[in-house]
Amino acid sequence: MKSLQAHEIPGHVTVTTGHGGLPAIQINTDWSLTEVYPHGAHVTGFQLKGSAPDTRTPADQTSYPAPLLFLSAASEFHADKPIRGGVPVIFPWFGPRDGMPAHGHARLTDWELLETAVLPDGSIRLHFRLPSNGCCTVDYFVTTGRSLGLEMVVTNTRETDYTFENCLHTYFQVGAVESIEITGLQGARYLDLLLAAEFTESGDPIRIAAEIDRTYQNTRATVEISDPVLARTIRIRKSGSLSTVVWNPWTAKSKRMPDFGDEEYRQMVCVESGNIGENAITLAPGQRSSMKVEIDCL
Ligand code: BG6
Repeated sequence: MKSLQAHEIPGHVTVTTGHGGLPAIQINTDWSLTEVYPHGAHVTGFQLKGSAPDTRTPADQTSYPAPLLFLSAASEFHADKPIRGGVPVIFPWFGPRDGMPAHGHARLTDWELLETAVLPDGSIRLHFRLPSNGCCTVDYFVTTGRSLGLEMVVTNTRETDYTFENCLHTYFQVGAVESIEITGLQGARYLDLLLAAEFTESGDPIRIAAEIDRTYQNTRATVEISDPVLARTIRIRKSGSLSTVVWNPWTAKSKRMPDFGDEEYRQMVCVESGNIGENAITLAPGQRSSMKVEIDCL
């Protein structure tokens, strides 16, 4: 296996020592700055540079528009812990499981970086692979440029069917959570994890004024987060995903989470794309599935 440094691309892809001494990969394109930790193949930052002619360096990033992704200032960066914020990769199950890590082991695992490449349009693509687990091959492609593209490809390498859940548990930065509107999920059926009951979303945009933890099922919809405080709309397009989770821990749960600030719930919302519960994926031997998420700002 090549060292991480062997994948550097001068001017575009740099390997640094990140928080907690973990390796971090910084990606610089004409349009955006991105940070990815091989620990969990975890995208921890994505920031557009804005429309001004760009003569700035990554060191000037405070003059860019607010990052699209939220990263908790209280996050732990430790080989045995998931990172809080950015895009945790959830696989092969979603949520708690007796005696096993919540949301699966993928976000706790150091993924192999197989390749970095500059694409013809100037965007940069990183190809990660989950170390072999004997049942499937999991590839993860992070493509960054004008938008952030994420693709998870699972191939069943067993001789029997393989069933799994997956989710790209994306934390978005917002100006003030009470002021945002989330659209695209109107009419979709969802499981409310707080009430343990199913509902159908109304025709109104979703507004958040309390803890929310909903798994929308059988929806391919593009979701938009309209944010009047940051004067922007984040768009989340997806394919190969039938579930969308909307989550904000609000006050009490924030206090219970050791790796999350008590007040940070105000500046974030999770809109997660995956295949969960009745939307879990079953692959026949040799079969492959792809889930793609594309995040940009309108
Ligand atoms: C969300 C779940 O996706 O993840 C919530 O719907 C959960 O129930 C949240 O609390 C955070 O999970 P974790 O394991 O990262 O604390």
